[in-house]
Amino acid sequence: MSDLIIDEARVDAASAAPAYGEAKSVVFERVGKVFGGGTAALADVDLAVARGEVFGIIGRSGAGKSTLLRLVNGLEKPSSGAVCVNGVSVGTLDERALVALRRRIGMVFQHFNLLSAKTVRENIALPLKIAGARKRAIDEKVDALLELVGLTAKRDAYPRSLSGGQKQRVGIARALVHDPDLLLCDEATSALDPETTQQILALLSDINRRLGLTIVLITHEMAVIREVCDSVAVIEAGQVVETGPVWRVFGDPQHDATQALLRTLVHGLPADLAARLDRAPRHGADVLLDVRYTGESRHEPDLGSLAVALGALGGRVNFVHGGIDRIQGHAQGRLVVSAQLRASGADAAGLRAHVDALVAGARRHADKVEVLGYV
Ligand SMILES: Nc1ncnc2c1ncn2[C@@H]1O[C@H](COP(=O)(O)OP(=O)(O)OP(=O)(O)O)[C@@H](O)[C@H]1O
Ligand SMILES: [Mg+2]
Repeated sequence: MSDLIIDEARVDAASAAPAYGEAKSVVFERVGKVFGGGTAALADVDLAVARGEVFGIIGRSGAGKSTLLRLVNGLEKPSSGAVCVNGVSVGTLDERALVALRRRIGMVFQHFNLLSAKTVRENIALPLKIAGARKRAIDEKVDALLELVGLTAKRDAYPRSLSGGQKQRVGIARALVHDPDLLLCDEATSALDPETTQQILALLSDINRRLGLTIVLITHEMAVIREVCDSVAVIEAGQVVETGPVWRVFGDPQHDATQALLRTLVHGLPADLAARLDRAPRHGADVLLDVRYTGESRHEPDLGSLAVALGALGGRVNFVHGGIDRIQGHAQGRLVVSAQLRASGADAAGLRAHVDALVAGARRHADKVEVLGYV
């Protein structure tokens, strides 16, 4: 078998403990990037991507995500600091070494970048042809990759007759021809419908596991991060404002930018309730509590205990809105819970004391509890 064929032994090598100093696939050290026109795209970026992980990068449009990725394969040079891939500083490489490095790094794009006049197999074969590989080795490699991405039946088709998902499979196969250790994906699923996105994500996860490949991916779809990433970094105006395991960042987002990005995933207060919300408590009204589980602590979302604790303090208790997700084994989410106010004295102080007691009761069974208002 040709040495170009996907080597199953690499899977074992990748899952074994990495040698000292090689645990990181990509390291950014105080990286800054100022473009010619004076645009400061990145400033003081410190970031480390562990070998074998799927690392997500999120941030608003223009935050600097693509620039960050282009520094990894040397398409851009840092203005300050250093970007190291497998322990080697990309900025110090001469043109030949850079070509060799780029072969170790696959890249997948949003718009596939396929050649329309070439068939699926010719598109995948092209980088090997350019690298001067022998025809037999190319054929074997392309056949193996077609099988890996599930496109064997389409090998002689032209891109125009492929669906978006199939085109992206070609893009992924082409990115893997040199057996890279690292795959960079810039919005690889942004042009795809939700079902096709799921299929491409499943393929990327499969490649990550089977080939032990490190994947760095940029996306505007927070569900993509939740689905496939181990770690995530949030970029805002050229700086890393938050980073960590996905469950931690998503379970308890700290920075405004992260909270804004995650709003699509969070169960906000339904509009009809928001419109009726009072700021002051009234006897007989319901207090709406924002009950959060961050996945950080001992609290499992134990609805029984929560309901009992609140019910013991007052009148009816309803679960109004919300949901729990499980990310990397951590249950987290937000529930909007209503509890009826039944203070012994209907004066303002009595009502406040009752609200405080309800909040304190709920806090024994959740990570964070806040009063949203009264309805
Ligand atoms: N070649 C360039 N020359 C000058 N400015 C650039 C260049 N490339 C990017 N920029 C600027 O750098 C900043 C970051 O751009 P970048 O493409 O990295 O953002 P992004 O986070 O990928 O955005 P999007 O989500 O829209 O793709 C922007 O202000 C952009 O205009
Ligand atoms: Mg971009």
